[in-house]
Amino acid sequence: MQRIVVTRRLPGDAHERIRGSADVRVWPDDRPIPRDVLEQQVADADGLLCMLTDRIDAPLLERAPSLQVVSTMAVGTDNIDVDACTERGIRVGNTPDVLNGATADMAIALLLAAARRIPEGMTYVREGRWRRWEPELLLGAEVHGSTLGIVGMGRIGTEIARRGLGFGMRVLYHNRHRRPEIEAQLGTLYRSLDELLAESDHVVLSCPLTEETYHLIDAQALDRMQPTATLINIARGPIVDPRALEHALRTGQIFAAALDVTEPEPIPADDPLLALPNCLIVPHLGSATLQTRKAMADLAVDNLLAGLRGEPMPACVNCHLIGR
Ligand code: DGY
Repeated sequence: MQRIVVTRRLPGDAHERIRGSADVRVWPDDRPIPRDVLEQQVADADGLLCMLTDRIDAPLLERAPSLQVVSTMAVGTDNIDVDACTERGIRVGNTPDVLNGATADMAIALLLAAARRIPEGMTYVREGRWRRWEPELLLGAEVHGSTLGIVGMGRIGTEIARRGLGFGMRVLYHNRHRRPEIEAQLGTLYRSLDELLAESDHVVLSCPLTEETYHLIDAQALDRMQPTATLINIARGPIVDPRALEHALRTGQIFAAALDVTEPEPIPADDPLLALPNCLIVPHLGSATLQTRKAMADLAVDNLLAGLRGEPMPACVNCHLIGR
C-alpha cells in the first residue's frame, strides 16, 4: 500500500478520498508541521500533500527516497524547490484557477478598504470619537474612474482587471511577457514597471515570488508612486521590502497600503507596520472562502491521487519536464 503524508487537516471530504487508497498520516495540529516531524514522516512516503507553509527543499527530498508526488494546496510554488523535485523525477501539483475569483475579490476588497479608509473609520467609531458628520472627516482616495496598475497579469491578475473595469477604472498592467490577447479582450494597457508605478492610483501586486520579484517594490519603486496612491499585495510578502514600505507610509510618500501577505509571515505583533493607521494587514486570506478552499483541497487530492497512479495530473508544474 502506498504511503501518503498530509501536512494539515483539509476541508471537505478530502481525507476520506485519500484514505480509501493509501496509508495516510495527517498532521493533526493547527500550527504547521515541525520540520523534524516532516523529515521523519517523508522517509517512507510515496506522496506528500503540503501547504504553502511547508518548505520542500533539496535536503528534505534527500530524506524521501520513495517520494513520487508533491501536491501543494496552493497555486504558488515558491516554497517548493521545483528544480530539485524535477531532478529526482518527483511530480509537483498545484491548485491554479479554482482560486482566481476569490483572490481577485480579496484584492478589490483590500483596495476599497485602504483607499476609503474603512479600518480607520471602524477604529474611530469603536473609540467613541464619532460625534458629528464632518465635511473633511477621513477623506479617502477615489476608486471609480481611477487608474489601476496590476503587476503580474496571470490568471488572478486578469480577474482583478475585470473587476477594475467594472469600477470604471483604466487598467494598466506590467508582466514578464506582454499579453496581447488580454489587451485585445479587456482593453488593458501595457506599461514598464516604472511607468505603471508613476501612473497608477492603485497598484496591485499579483505576480509570483521569484528571484526577480524579491523586493521588487523597494524604496526606489515606492518613490516612483504618487503620494495619493495605494499599494495592495495579494501575492507574496517578500515582493515588498517592508522597511521601505514603512518609511513610505510614515512619510506620506504613498497614501496607504493593504497587505494580505507579509515578510515575514506571520508578521510579528510588534512590527511597526501594524502601528500605522494607513496600513491594513490581514492574515493571507486571499483564497479563504469555504467554496474555494474546498475546491483547492479537492484539486490537491486529485493531483496527488492521479500522480500516485501514474496518470496525468490535472495541474502539474513540472510534468512536461519529467516527461510524464
Ligand atoms: C496560493 O494558493 O498560492 C495562495 O497564496 C493561497 O491561497
